[in-house]
Amino acid sequence: MCGIIGYTGRRPAGPIVIDGLKRLEYRGYDSAGIALLDGDHELYVARSVGKLDRLDAHVEGTLPPAVAGIGHTRWATHGEPSDANAHPHLDPSGRVAIIHNGIVENFETLRARFTDRGATFLSATDSEVIAHIVAEQLEASGDLVEALRLTTLQLEGAHAIVAVATDEPGRLVAARVGNAGGVVVGFGDGESFIASDLAALLPNTRRVAFLDPGEIADVRADGVAFIDGEGRAIEKAVKTQPYDPVAAVKGRYKHFMLKEIYEQPETALDAVRGRYLPDLARVSLGDEFPFDAERVRRIRRVILIAMGTSMHAAMVGRHYIERLARIPAEIDNAAEFRYRQPVIDDETLVVSVAQSGETVDTLWAMEEARAAGCPQLTVCNTPGAQSTRVADGTLLMRAGPEIAVASTKTMLGSMIALHALALHLGRVRGTLDEAVEAEQVAAALRAPAAIGQALLLEPRIAQLASRYAQREDFLFLGRGLSLPVALEGALKLKEVSYIHAEGYPAGEMKHGPIALIDENVPTVALALDDGLRDKMRSNIEQLKARRGPVIAIVSAGDHSLDGVADDVIELPPIDPLLSPLVSVLPMQLLAYHIAVERGADVDQPRNLAKTVTVE
Ligand code: G6P
Repeated sequence: MCGIIGYTGRRPAGPIVIDGLKRLEYRGYDSAGIALLDGDHELYVARSVGKLDRLDAHVEGTLPPAVAGIGHTRWATHGEPSDANAHPHLDPSGRVAIIHNGIVENFETLRARFTDRGATFLSATDSEVIAHIVAEQLEASGDLVEALRLTTLQLEGAHAIVAVATDEPGRLVAARVGNAGGVVVGFGDGESFIASDLAALLPNTRRVAFLDPGEIADVRADGVAFIDGEGRAIEKAVKTQPYDPVAAVKGRYKHFMLKEIYEQPETALDAVRGRYLPDLARVSLGDEFPFDAERVRRIRRVILIAMGTSMHAAMVGRHYIERLARIPAEIDNAAEFRYRQPVIDDETLVVSVAQSGETVDTLWAMEEARAAGCPQLTVCNTPGAQSTRVADGTLLMRAGPEIAVASTKTMLGSMIALHALALHLGRVRGTLDEAVEAEQVAAALRAPAAIGQALLLEPRIAQLASRYAQREDFLFLGRGLSLPVALEGALKLKEVSYIHAEGYPAGEMKHGPIALIDENVPTVALALDDGLRDKMRSNIEQLKARRGPVIAIVSAGDHSLDGVADDVIELPPIDPLLSPLVSVLPMQLLAYHIAVERGADVDQPRNLAKTVTVE
């Protein structure tokens, strides 16, 4: 979760580190801090609880002309958000400073070793002990790389750590242990960078290398050396990443979330481009799909794993794989999958969905699948992310950088990628009718226009938002393909507006949630014309009989709920199978506008982080 940045080189390090933190703030915003080294072996440290602007104001006019520096933005795990618990942490002599992402699971035992000798700790974090151990090891070995390597051997859990020492002001050492989020090294001209994710580096360099678990980078202005966990030198390939600088700025939008909602027609266009071939009336996944026909025919089951919004996209994907490819498909929460000893083998295709490709729950679940010999695909928005390196093949979401903590456009990109995957699997296995494939290809190619039309609903949704913004509970109901959309509607509302919201399969409503209903609890009911509408209508009648306000989301031209629901939102025309691509937009817009009405911090909701690298 926490964001990490480091710089060493010819330019003053302070502003570069602060600028990098600005691009990482979505990873955590409980506190922020920097440590800068000047050529005279002096260490400058500044830390502030709260968002980055607090640190920015705190350091204004005081930054020394440093040759190297590190910065950290925190999502608290051990120890409340406070100045004292903010990183960087120092050893008692002030010789070593570290920043850390992950959890030191044995920190109490490690700390005791030092407190028994009379050392004091200034924070309640699990991280501070790392600085003590690095300093101890540095004293013994005289080398910062070796000191950090030996330190990592003592830590339980998964970590990304960057250490600096006053002895060698121009040197940063970074280690990645297990799946605690990425570490990416950037190569510049007479300067080098370290970061937890690519977004922080791209304005400065596009030439990067990713650390794999167990690797350490020795970073200096004029070059970077890599070693493995045993201390042996290794070679790493330097890759050039594409960059779209426009995508990372808010432009005319008040919030990134709204901008990203509005980018969805373009996301859909990018996601269908080259995959859906109108002239051949079929899909083509090209290099994205690494398995030959024989391997595909051996698949007996598909398991989709993911967390959060990506899990809702995976739920939609499950329908696609069952309906179009006729392969038994299941969906599992990645954090549950890992620990329930799943029955999987090399005939189980595992498909993970993760916009970041760094979510630790998903990565561990993928490791579990790898150990069982499962063929694996990942649907990911971040080229080069760890999930893409574990999976055999990657289908990119093609959504561009998503900055708002609450995901929107990446869900859309995932659903399209999974639809294309299902069509591909169905054709290769001979279970998909050619005419159905042709129809689905044509429908997918029309989807970007329908998504654009769905955005025209915004003024109507904004009105509803102002009417319902002060309610404290919401229910979202759906069936079939609309169930994941209902779950996503509830999740979005919780995330950005802090309203208690529950998403439920509509059939389950009468088994409990209906007890919540009275005139103060509105329900958003997805009642699309997909064969299940009449069942939804009965559920809506049941809600109305208990005086619950109902907002019904219906298919284009469907007036059957006029006068039954309090409000009826008509979606633009779309193939029923692709309906989640448009029905999710009113969910996103409703959550957004309610959050704005309530004055919530839409892009950085409390307690959340975009990339969750702790369990
Ligand atoms: C966090 C974010 C969500 C996201 C989830 C999964 O909880 O706040 O927006 O859906 O992680 O992230 P992933 O990167 O695995 O898709």
